[in-house]
Amino acid sequence: MIEISKDKTFHLRGKSYSYVMRVDGSGYLEHVYFGARVGEDDLSYLNAPSFLSFSPIPPDAYDPAFSLDHTPQEYASFGQGDFRTPSVLARRADGDVASRFRYLSHAVGDEEGESCLPKARGGETLAVTLKDALSGVTVCLRYTVYEDCDVLVRSAEIVNGGEEPVRLERAYSFSVDLPAGEYDVLRLHGRHLAERAYERTPLGHGTVRICSTRGASSHQMNPFLALLSRNADEDGGECFGFTLLYSGSYALEAEKSQTDAVRVQGGVGDTAFSWTLGAGERFTAPQAALIYSASGLGTLSREAHDFLRRHVIPVQSANRPIVVNNWEATYFDFDRQKLLALIGEAADLGIDTFVLDDGWFGKRDGDASGLGDWSVSTQKLEGGLKPLIDACKRRGMKFGLWFEPEMVSEDSDLFRAHPDWAVGKADVPRCKSRNQYVLDFTRPEIVDHVYARMAEILAANEISYVKWDMNRHITEFFSPALPAERMGEFSHRYILGVYTLAKRLRERFPQVFFEGCSGGGGRFDAGMLAYFPQIWTSDDTDAAERAKIQWATSFVYPISAMSCHVSACPNHQTGRVTPLSTRAALASLGPTGYELDLGKLSDGEKGEVRKQIAAYRETEALIMEGDLYRLSDPFRETVFAEMVVSKDKKSAYLVGMTMRAVPADFNRRIRLKGLDENRAYHVRELGLTLHGSTLMRAGLLLPKQQEYESWTWHLES
Ligand code: DGJ
Repeated sequence: MIEISKDKTFHLRGKSYSYVMRVDGSGYLEHVYFGARVGEDDLSYLNAPSFLSFSPIPPDAYDPAFSLDHTPQEYASFGQGDFRTPSVLARRADGDVASRFRYLSHAVGDEEGESCLPKARGGETLAVTLKDALSGVTVCLRYTVYEDCDVLVRSAEIVNGGEEPVRLERAYSFSVDLPAGEYDVLRLHGRHLAERAYERTPLGHGTVRICSTRGASSHQMNPFLALLSRNADEDGGECFGFTLLYSGSYALEAEKSQTDAVRVQGGVGDTAFSWTLGAGERFTAPQAALIYSASGLGTLSREAHDFLRRHVIPVQSANRPIVVNNWEATYFDFDRQKLLALIGEAADLGIDTFVLDDGWFGKRDGDASGLGDWSVSTQKLEGGLKPLIDACKRRGMKFGLWFEPEMVSEDSDLFRAHPDWAVGKADVPRCKSRNQYVLDFTRPEIVDHVYARMAEILAANEISYVKWDMNRHITEFFSPALPAERMGEFSHRYILGVYTLAKRLRERFPQVFFEGCSGGGGRFDAGMLAYFPQIWTSDDTDAAERAKIQWATSFVYPISAMSCHVSACPNHQTGRVTPLSTRAALASLGPTGYELDLGKLSDGEKGEVRKQIAAYRETEALIMEGDLYRLSDPFRETVFAEMVVSKDKKSAYLVGMTMRAVPADFNRRIRLKGLDENRAYHVRELGLTLHGSTLMRAGLLLPKQQEYESWTWHLES
């Protein structure tokens, strides 16, 4: 709900938060309040001007003590007395970068034009336009509120209303100034095979900046930052989350100022960034989601999950494919017979989709060649894809195919024909990573080419699933097609090319289910989720490592988006041996699948797999739509445990795993969460019927288990 008073105070009400801003006496758009719902009161007293030495008074100050240096703002400019980090830097032809953005107009329901940038659906939007009288540049700040989740979506559109070109050196999506306080910063850092570990540190003075300069949101630092009140934990305390619907180089910053107030802002990364706006031209910054919780990190996550599931992730069907993927079963070493055998085994076990991973195209027997040559290798696969697809169809299965659309190998026909299509300069040796180069997706003709190649294969074959991979980051950030003064646009233009290709393919092939991937979870972000309903969570399929990765990934992303496979033991990444039941239990906390040579399973194990698949289908609705409660932290506790509860609280599913066996550790209890305290639940595996109040307060005894054993509890009422 959006309420606007005559004196231009804007009160946005989400499901249970208020977000208040106002135009002050000098015409600046001040941030007033973001937190739990408040009454329809005049809150201007919160921003009463107060004199502070060395804080400059702007020439248009409405009060002699007014200074932008410590006034909370909605979008901060530079060179008008606010010495904190600005949200926008627009350099004019004479080199001047100072700006004074003041209120110009507002509109309810203002819609952005059509673009390929990921965009949240629904909600009610307020657009407030600010104008910098010095340059003529305007910024349209958009705010979208939702009745069904505590998320505020923000974005900024910058238009050069002047006559001279301006160069944007920073153009963030949002900025918000939270009041003085003691906060912790939470971030998700990592690396390939170990994505999204979490780190919580007190926010001191100065700036905490998380970012990626890799041309992708990255394994190394996920585009999510949260500010938690010092006392906040899973179940209590005020928390603010910030994420971007964006998959390229980005920055998110939290800056604690001299007055202990905290500015949080972010958007497209400003390292080596610039964007030239000719007269009348516009730059649209990606959307950011601001998530609010008055009751802990658990609630913050559930609000983010509801938002992403209802307003961002495309809805295709209630059931996700249960796949067998041949990657860890064969790597590059396969032929038709091997794959037919895998399809046969999969069909016998009740798996519904076979996904052919890397190696089916061009000359591709290893990772040093073939990328870019998207035609089936009939040398390797006699008869092409058809015999495989036919075999799938005969057994009632569907067929999926792997692509890495953005890449090219040096040893490929595509590169030999177009050496200038790779990012960088054709005459200067370029960095290789996984032996490959990145295609210059800033150039529409290259995106068109890849689209045509992929579309041809998707149109000619019955393919219901595409795994879209990306296995290196960008280094050279140079395109011969961009003029020198526009080279700073490379990174953002690249990701716009990626979105354009994804959008065109999804529109042309609505029946195809797309899974995102980037060497595992290197592009696990809300931007990708706007195109791909699920993402391969990590190349690390070890159950104990996955317990951690899936735990922290769920801080912001729903488990319905986390693709999880059961793989072979000893695990290929860590060498660890875990029971098949544990691997399946962990993989059941997300769209599940298998990635191993099924032919090597014993009859007993095959029986187990059949049961796992039936059990997964039984709980799938909970995984897709339920509320997630994190119970026991695998990073810190000896046990991992998470549960999902249906929205009507009638059923729940819990998965636990012993991370570290502790001798003689008797009678430890685990308290369940999220249940209806008055309802009686039957815990199937324990044969117990207990009230929600008992399960949540007295808890259940932890099973006595060996290291890496797991358990599942199904609750019904
Ligand atoms: C990285 C992915 O994460 C893997 O699942 C697999 O598809 C390989 N690439 C193939 O090269």
